[in-house]
Amino acid sequence: MRILVTGGAGFIGSEYVRMLLTGSAPGLSLGAVTVLDKLTYSGNLANLDPVRDDPRLRFVQGDICDPGTVDEVVAGHDVIVHFAAESHVDRSISGAAPFVTTNVLGTQTLLDAALRHGTGRFVHVSTDEVYGSIAEGSWTETWPLSPNSPYSASKAGSDLLALAYHRTHGMDVVLTRCSNNYGPYQFPEKVIPLFVTNLLDGGTVPLYGDGGNIRDWLHVHDHCVGIALVQQKGRAGEVYHIGGGTELTNKELTERLLEACGAGWDRVVPVTDRKGHDRRYSLDITKISEELGYAPSIPLDRGLAETVTWYRDNRAWWEPLKTTTPTSPRPVSPA
Ligand SMILES: NC(=O)c1ccc[n+]([C@@H]2O[C@H](COP(=O)([O-])OP(=O)(O)OC[C@H]3O[C@@H](n4cnc5c(N)ncnc54)[C@H](O)[C@@H]3O)[C@@H](O)[C@H]2O)c1
Repeated sequence: MRILVTGGAGFIGSEYVRMLLTGSAPGLSLGAVTVLDKLTYSGNLANLDPVRDDPRLRFVQGDICDPGTVDEVVAGHDVIVHFAAESHVDRSISGAAPFVTTNVLGTQTLLDAALRHGTGRFVHVSTDEVYGSIAEGSWTETWPLSPNSPYSASKAGSDLLALAYHRTHGMDVVLTRCSNNYGPYQFPEKVIPLFVTNLLDGGTVPLYGDGGNIRDWLHVHDHCVGIALVQQKGRAGEVYHIGGGTELTNKELTERLLEACGAGWDRVVPVTDRKGHDRRYSLDITKISEELGYAPSIPLDRGLAETVTWYRDNRAWWEPLKTTTPTSPRPVSPA
């Protein structure tokens, strides 16, 4: 099987590529994998270092919005797993244009190429943020979309386009929507790597508002296992939720990270809340659990401890990113 992974040099896409090439994606037999990635500020070839010498891996630096490049790269692949996106909410608040361009136009460009080339399956990776915010209970896959940030609105647009290509053209499209990911190789603008790297450097961490916003935390490996199940066994035209089953307020998360880094509350600086900040996300994962046998396997305590250890041991990966990357005005958010 020949798989095209867009955004495969980013945080989650690179985990998927490493999984594919190390044989840790359950049930997937792989012929070759192509990564198409523009290498924006969050894309990093070092994320593929553990598999870079594998002869089955081909890397193409290119933009998913460029029809010529996309047409050439899509040809000959059986499956597309589409991760490439502008992914940081705060950046979308200070400038929405790249989000609409990459997330909406880029997805449509890929869908068109997949349609032309008769690609066997298109796996579109999305987010729980498309539903907005939920005070109680959990979203099922049929919940109406009500995104609140330019990021989530652009992802919702791309989700609807992907489903429309299934309904209109009969394309084999499946969607995943997941909760907040954490783990190694996450760009240090998202809350966990930002807080951990600041604390390891002896600095402070900025906590939004009253710290009461609630997120469900999902280890990136569990997320990719869920995607692999959907890629293989998901029903065409369906949406599948992938969650971690661990909801924490940002204050509770901060407490755990302080403890893991041996720091106290004197290192926390309260900052004005994000505009339009969603209060709570919560996914119902009954569908993927019952249909495809998915269950998260990495408990949050262990996952967080291993993640902190990874950032402690891999300063050479994150130090250059913190010093050379232009940051948004508010690079301090939970995703
Ligand atoms: N991180 C999370 O917690 C989370 C949660 C839910 C959903 N998601 C979704 O998962 C996907 C991957 O997220 P991530 O956290 O790995 O993001 P990331 O920012 O770490 O990686 C995005 C990758 O896409 C590439 N890219 C961006 N624009 C591109 C373009 N125009 N053409 C080609 N490549 C381009 C970047 O270079 C980067 O390698 C995204 O679609 C995101 O919406 C992420």
